Amino acid sequence: MSRITEVKVAPLYDSRAHLTVEATVTLDSGAHARAGAPSGASTGTHEVVAFPDGGVPAALAAFRDRARSALIGLDAAGLSSVDEALHRADGTPNFSRIGGNTATAISVATAMALGVESHRPLWKVLARSGVDGTSFPSIVGNCINGGRHAIGGPEIQEFIAFAEEKDPADSVRAAIRVHGVIGEALERRFPGQALGRGDEGGWVAGIGNVEALEILKDACAKVRDETHLAVHPGIDMAASEFFRGGQYRYRDRSLDEEGQIGFVSELVDRYGIRYLEDPLDEEAFEGFAAVTRAVGRRALVVGDDLYVTNVVRLERGITLRSSNAILIKVNQVGTLTDTLATVDLARRDGLATIASHRSGEVPEGWLAHVALGIGARGLKCGVLGGERVAKLNELLRLGRANGT
Ligand code: PGA
Ligand code: ZN
Repeated sequence: MSRITEVKVAPLYDSRAHLTVEATVTLDSGAHARAGAPSGASTGTHEVVAFPDGGVPAALAAFRDRARSALIGLDAAGLSSVDEALHRADGTPNFSRIGGNTATAISVATAMALGVESHRPLWKVLARSGVDGTSFPSIVGNCINGGRHAIGGPEIQEFIAFAEEKDPADSVRAAIRVHGVIGEALERRFPGQALGRGDEGGWVAGIGNVEALEILKDACAKVRDETHLAVHPGIDMAASEFFRGGQYRYRDRSLDEEGQIGFVSELVDRYGIRYLEDPLDEEAFEGFAAVTRAVGRRALVVGDDLYVTNVVRLERGITLRSSNAILIKVNQVGTLTDTLATVDLARRDGLATIASHRSGEVPEGWLAHVALGIGARGLKCGVLGGERVAKLNELLRLGRANGT
């Protein structure tokens, strides 16, 4: 028995200085743990609601009125009892009363408290069958920011260093170095001018998509030459953000779905892209399948807004063979139990999983444990900023503890 004796939810600022929540869960053994929930900016339409109308104050009130008493006294062992109680207390399909972020913080804090009680790190509490903690995720590190995460940058949201090394110390080093080399290139391109950083710690400059890709490709090649580490270009197009009226709207032109598929496939070939996230709108299951047919042997085709970590949407993607990988964000779906159901389906079908941060993050490392525990192919967490580096550092600690 691991009975819950107390659950507290409190406000917390994320890395954009927006309010979010953290939860502290205490078990009758005295074991307790605290976890904060991150928030997105380019959220998928089908995600659960992060906070009810009225924002964080309304979420705190709803927790007090609807959820707290339902959780106290519950046996948390196995976690699912807690996550089911959160769904019952909320009573809506999308956590619109208590907020998906409240549910996320409570779910993660409960799993961590169970780990404290049983002297296990969080990743072991979450470990899927066959995962022994010795196979580490590649780093998916955002180096240039655009879209909703930057002002005045390219339309493509993220230009990524995808570092595929066995030892996390090597992957982390390679991704950080690509970020640094891009900074040097931008300084040469804009001598004496101010450069900025976006919400995920990547560079922001007044460049277009193609120029950003040129810079990224060159930086990855330079770092490969210099270090002999495997690091290649990746992008998250977050294409739903510029899809309007059936067209992908770039500053200088608009493309229909067929045009966008052709454009994306060309980019994959020309720039050696090995990680391709959300190349199409969040409803384009069939279009995604066409992209996967075209480039899926060369690149991970990753559904983020397409799936929103939702098992029903993933089932549809599997039926249509929409992608060969799925992004996993706990607060898109609200609880670890829901997250793990989606992960298990992805693993059964041979899809790669990528555990991901949000653009508004908290300076905590629990995401690294999620990545390791689910046997993720990637950990997407940026490379700069305390809230991103917290996850990289935690992965390094796990690497040392588990013998790399
Ligand atoms: P978000 O974006 O956290 O702002 O939703 C991240 C992503 O699209 O991967
Ligand atoms: Zn994304």
